[in-house]
Amino acid sequence: MNERNDDGKILILGGFGRVGQEAARYLLAATGARIVLASRSPRTLPAWVTPAWAQRVTLQTLDSAQPEALQAACAQARLVVSCIGPSGVVGDRVARACKRARRPLIDAGGYDPLLHALEAAEREAPSEVPLVINVGLLPGLSGLFPHWLIETRAAGRAVAQLDLHYVGRDAWTYNSAWDIVNSLGGFGEDRGFCYLQGQRVVSVPMRRAASKVAFPEPIGQVTTMLIYAEEIVRLALRHDIDTARVYGANIGPRAALVCLLAKLLRLYRSPGDVDRGARWLAAASARDLRKQAPAYGIRAALRYRDDDGGGSDSAVLVLSDTYRATGTVAGIAAQCLLDGEGPAAGVFMLHEAVPPERFMQRLQAQGLVRIAHEDRGAAVAAAQVSA
Ligand SMILES: NC(=O)c1ccc[n+]([C@@H]2O[C@H](COP(=O)([O-])OP(=O)(O)OC[C@H]3O[C@@H](n4cnc5c(N)ncnc54)[C@H](OP(=O)(O)O)[C@@H]3O)[C@@H](O)[C@H]2O)c1
Repeated sequence: MNERNDDGKILILGGFGRVGQEAARYLLAATGARIVLASRSPRTLPAWVTPAWAQRVTLQTLDSAQPEALQAACAQARLVVSCIGPSGVVGDRVARACKRARRPLIDAGGYDPLLHALEAAEREAPSEVPLVINVGLLPGLSGLFPHWLIETRAAGRAVAQLDLHYVGRDAWTYNSAWDIVNSLGGFGEDRGFCYLQGQRVVSVPMRRAASKVAFPEPIGQVTTMLIYAEEIVRLALRHDIDTARVYGANIGPRAALVCLLAKLLRLYRSPGDVDRGARWLAAASARDLRKQAPAYGIRAALRYRDDDGGGSDSAVLVLSDTYRATGTVAGIAAQCLLDGEGPAAGVFMLHEAVPPERFMQRLQAQGLVRIAHEDRGAAVAAAQVSA
C-alpha cells in the first residue's frame, strides 16, 4: 500500500445503517482503531457508542454521490468500509475513489456487476491496494465457509464435489431488498437453474432443481433450489473442484413469495420496477419477522476424489442475527487487512482476501455462529439432492 497511513481512521460509509453500525461496533470492540461514521445528513453520536469508545469516533456528513468530497474523505482514511446501498445504485464510485486515493476497501455489497467492472478496470490500470467486495453473509461467508472447510479438512485431497445450501430470512432494509430484487435476473445473464460441472455451467430443468435440506433449529427442513453463484464458480476453479452445486432459499414465507413474484414479473429489468419490488420485499419480510426470528444457515458438503481415497466432510453453520453477523464479517475482514493478513493489491471476493482459519476463529470468538461438523451419513440424510 502506498502512502501508508497506519495511524489514520477507518471511514465507514453508511455508518448509521444496519450493516455499517455493526461493522463499526465490531471494529471498536476488537481493535484500537479510530472510526469515522459517515452519513448523508448531520448526525449525533449513536446511543450504542459507549463512553469508552466515544473518543475514538468522529462523525462526518458525506454523500457518496459527490465525487470530490468522497475522494477527499477516502484519501484521509487508512481504510474504507463501505456499507451504503443499494449497491446497484452506488455502482463503482466508492471503489474507484479508493483505488484513486490508494486506500483499501471492504464493501459489504457490490455483487457481480461491481466485481466485473472492477476486474475490467484492473486490466487497464491495476489497483495498488486491495479492493475486497461482497463482504457479507451472501455473498461473503457463503464462499468463505466452504473455503475454510476445504482448507481445514481436505488435507491435500482433491475435492470431486461440493454441495452448498444457503437459507436465510430477516426483515430486509429497503437498500438490502433493492439489491436482492436487482439480483433476481442474474444481473442480465439469467442462467436459470444450473450447476458447475468441470469448467462448464450446466442447466437443469425445474423438476430436477430442488433439494430438501435439514438445518438445526430454528431453521428446520427447507426446500431449496439450484442457483448460480459467481463466488462458488471462482471457489470451484481455485480448488479444481469437478462438480459444484449451490442451492438457496429465502425462508421467510412472504418474502419468498415476493421474490417469486418479482422474478415472474421480471421486476429486475428497470430501476423503477426494482424500487417497487424492493418496497414489497421490505414490507413482506418485516411481516415474516412478526412471527419468526431472523435466521441464516449454510451447509457445505465435500466429497473427495476416489483416487485420493474418497471420503467426505460436511459442516453446517447457523446464526440468528443476520445484520450483526454481516457487519461483523465486514469488520473482521477490515481487521485482517489492518493486521497485514490480506493481499497486497487487486480485486477480491472475501474468500480470496482473508486467511480462512484466522477469519473463522475471529468470527467464532464473537459467539454469533454455531458450527457443527457432520459425518457422511448425517450429511446425506440432511440434504436430499435431486439434481
Ligand atoms: N453481502 C451480504 O450478505 C449483505 C447483507 C446485508 C446487506 N448487504 C449490503 O449492504 C448494503 C447496506 O445495507 P443495509 O441493509 O445496511 O442498508 P441500510 O440500513 O439502509 O444502510 C445503508 C446506508 O447507506 C447510506 N447511504 C445511502 N446512499 C448513500 C449515499 N449516496 N452516500 C452515502 N451514504 C449513503 C444511508 O445512510 P444515510 O441515510 O445515513 O446517509 C443508509 O443508512 C447494501 O448494499 C446491501 O445490499 C450485503
